[in-house]
Amino acid sequence: MAQILDGTRVRDDILSELKPRVAALAAKGRPPGLAVVLVGHHPASEIYVRNKVRACRELGIYSESVTPPGSVSTEELLGIVDQLNGRHDIDGILVQLPLPPQVDARRILLAVAPAKDVDGFHPCNVGSLVAGLPGPRACTPAGILELLKRYGIPIAGQRAVVVGRSDIVGKPVALLLLHEHATVTICHSRTPSLAAICREGEILVAAIGRPAMITAEFIRPGATVVDVGMNRIDNRAEAARIFRNSTEKMAAFDKKGSLLVGDVHPLDVAAAAGAYTPVPGGVGPLTIAMLMVNTVVSAERRTGLC
Ligand code: GUN
Repeated sequence: MAQILDGTRVRDDILSELKPRVAALAAKGRPPGLAVVLVGHHPASEIYVRNKVRACRELGIYSESVTPPGSVSTEELLGIVDQLNGRHDIDGILVQLPLPPQVDARRILLAVAPAKDVDGFHPCNVGSLVAGLPGPRACTPAGILELLKRYGIPIAGQRAVVVGRSDIVGKPVALLLLHEHATVTICHSRTPSLAAICREGEILVAAIGRPAMITAEFIRPGATVVDVGMNRIDNRAEAARIFRNSTEKMAAFDKKGSLLVGDVHPLDVAAAAGAYTPVPGGVGPLTIAMLMVNTVVSAERRTGLC
């Protein structure tokens, strides 16, 4: 039986470990502060931001949501970021992506003060990651490493295959695995013989955004498989195909009208992997936990506590 890497449990552990650090900051003068900028009405982003704000509240972190309309211009958004950069009580700034097409996302990410960049997206912080220097790391990749370490999954000397080359997940997770001495291959949509390369991975990270694409022939028997995908399936026939008409899953589909599926085939991974992250309940909860870690570290730095 494959081991399930329970992201919810690890998230709870990380958040409990943060509580005394938040309390120490509050006792010294003020709690950590996070500003989340959410532009317009993007249903998935609204859910993510709500969860981030809730995590802050549960931990005692001050949070503030700034919600400009979807028609906001680059200049207006730069003004908002600039104002947050100057705020003494704000330690972390997160501009939720994606941004609307009229906004120059690169200019916005470049405008966030590197010391408040709790997403680790600023080129200065990406440079620190590449060079192996301290600095905030992108939350989902940092969460993946935390999960692997806390479950004692060996990384050094292992072959790791990352499918997906995004700036948010694929590239940074590959670098983090490399810094832990894995032998890392990054694959993407133009990689030939993708299944054969994936099958070499003792660690396989899927961050592609295509539901259940990683099937049995991509998975080395006994591998550790990390599924970053979060795809909502609202087509009943597609859900039936993916879950091979499982009565339990189809009943869940009929109740909710949709199912969440990762980038990895949920039945194949359970049969072939040595350990894997489920969807939901795997990588997802860790992204928010690492955002809280980055916010607390930023507050500690800015108030001289570390
Ligand atoms: N959109 C999807 N994931 C993320 C993330 O980690 N940070 C931000 N800012 N936006 C996202």
